[in-house]
Amino acid sequence: MEDDRGNVIRIDSRSPEETRRIGKAIGRLARGGEVILLKGPLGAGKTTLVQGIARGLGIEGPVQSPSFVLERIHRGRLELRHLDLYRLSGEEALEAGLLSDIGDDQVTVIEWAERAEGLIDADLEVKIERTSEEENRSISIEAKNPAWKSFLLEVQKTC
Ligand SMILES: Nc1ncnc2c1ncn2[C@@H]1O[C@H](COP(=O)(O)OP(=O)(O)OP(=O)(O)O)[C@@H](O)[C@H]1O
Ligand SMILES: [Mg+2]
Repeated sequence: MEDDRGNVIRIDSRSPEETRRIGKAIGRLARGGEVILLKGPLGAGKTTLVQGIARGLGIEGPVQSPSFVLERIHRGRLELRHLDLYRLSGEEALEAGLLSDIGDDQVTVIEWAERAEGLIDADLEVKIERTSEEENRSISIEAKNPAWKSFLLEVQKTC
């Protein structure tokens, strides 16, 4: 589904593998310098989506939630900078420098981006919600930057 401004798509995922496939499509389209906000409750599937983004960037190793270390960097075609703000307030994240220094050769993905509302400019905002069945998720992806509007169609095509 696409809304009338064409900057939001919604995709249903029926398994972790499907969520990774959506992430992979995003990772493959990333060109560097992107900031991707991930929102949704505990266990929604944010880290699972990041695992797919990593694959799309050519990163082979395991990707886990960086909840205890706040930030993990993985090297691939571009660097994946994976943040998790669950344990922080937006102010703390700012003070720790987590919301600045966005590199041109990096893709920054932020779990629990609700914590940083209004504190960082994003290219994409992904919201993941559980739906009726155990493994069903509704995933909405919003292009915050017009450049990503056309990429959304590509993401939708692959999924
Ligand atoms: N369609 C689906 N998409 C993603 N994950 C799913 C799906 N169905 C089931 N799951 C399971 O839900 C769990 C999602 O965990 P994940 O760590 O990705 O969530 P999270 O949003 O990062 O949680 P947290 O807020 O704790 O960081 C995993 O165990 C995954 O296998
Ligand atoms: Mg997580």
